[in-house]
Amino acid sequence: MTITKYPRAAFIDLAPETDSFEQAVLTGLRASPKAISAKFFYDERGSRLFEDICNQPEYYPTRTELRLLQDHACELASMIGDNSTLIEFGAGALEKVRILLDALDRPAGYIALDISGDHLKAAADSLAQDYPHMPITAICADYTRSLTLPKDLIDKSRGRTVGFFPGSTIGNFSSQEAHQFLETIRPLVGADGLLVIGVDLKKDPAILNAAYNDKAGVTAAFNLNLIHRINAELDGQFDLDSFAHKAFYNEDLGQVEMHLESLDNQIVTVAGHSFTFSKGETIHTEISCKYAPQEFQALARSAGWRPLTVFTDKMKLFSLHVLSAD
Ligand code: AVI
Repeated sequence: MTITKYPRAAFIDLAPETDSFEQAVLTGLRASPKAISAKFFYDERGSRLFEDICNQPEYYPTRTELRLLQDHACELASMIGDNSTLIEFGAGALEKVRILLDALDRPAGYIALDISGDHLKAAADSLAQDYPHMPITAICADYTRSLTLPKDLIDKSRGRTVGFFPGSTIGNFSSQEAHQFLETIRPLVGADGLLVIGVDLKKDPAILNAAYNDKAGVTAAFNLNLIHRINAELDGQFDLDSFAHKAFYNEDLGQVEMHLESLDNQIVTVAGHSFTFSKGETIHTEISCKYAPQEFQALARSAGWRPLTVFTDKMKLFSLHVLSAD
């Protein structure tokens, strides 16, 4: 018997075009209202702070989604079938996919896509140690833009191809961006493909406000890390004590918003440019959209997907949708 071992993950760099941090910050601070994209939270310190957020008692999404995956692993495995290939978008620590891989019958392969190559490579190599007989490919790519995977990466003569997008990261996209993302990834899984996607639910605003204002101040540190990063990388002169974390559920828009609020009238320079802040003015740093199950299914349908099923926990905190590409 020949056993093919894959002790390390294959790595493919599709050289994603990344928006320049400096350009995005200068443009965002000139805009009215001021805004900087949430994607710039995730430098090394920001990624560590996000992992800490996931362990805060108020931040229910991570543990609730893990539980949903565990509770429904067998049903998911039978919908997916054997010899399937999984493609994970925005793969972080690759903890959640292990639950699926353990439940699946002879998975044919796993492909992880992320914009941050170094982090992805390390996580994929560690996964490869635990799944030595399964081909694992880490691809550094921007999955929010149009995406073509290298030919022959997926053997369509085997089982289904299944996209996996946990964590409710889709909530950090505007509804147009979410629609575009869902449209972009559909051809990747092919006509008989599926998408398993975690989506945070609309709920009592008190639960949402607590989740984004944890008592230990980790979410505040995560938000403020953005101006810490601007100071470190762009010769910024932000006084961190003159800005405060502000997060609240905007019920009209169905989204949690995070802002950095100026506590004074002040002028801040970044990369030699000056920006005026009035007391109470904010930099909008993140949206986290919440969807009722039918709202998300309507969005998925508008992007060509057919909803198959949705799992939710007893407290109706979080949802896990299964969509079909046909
Ligand atoms: C990554 N994303 C799904 C998180 C969220 O809940 O929107 C990011 C986050 N921001 C503050 N806390 C967590």
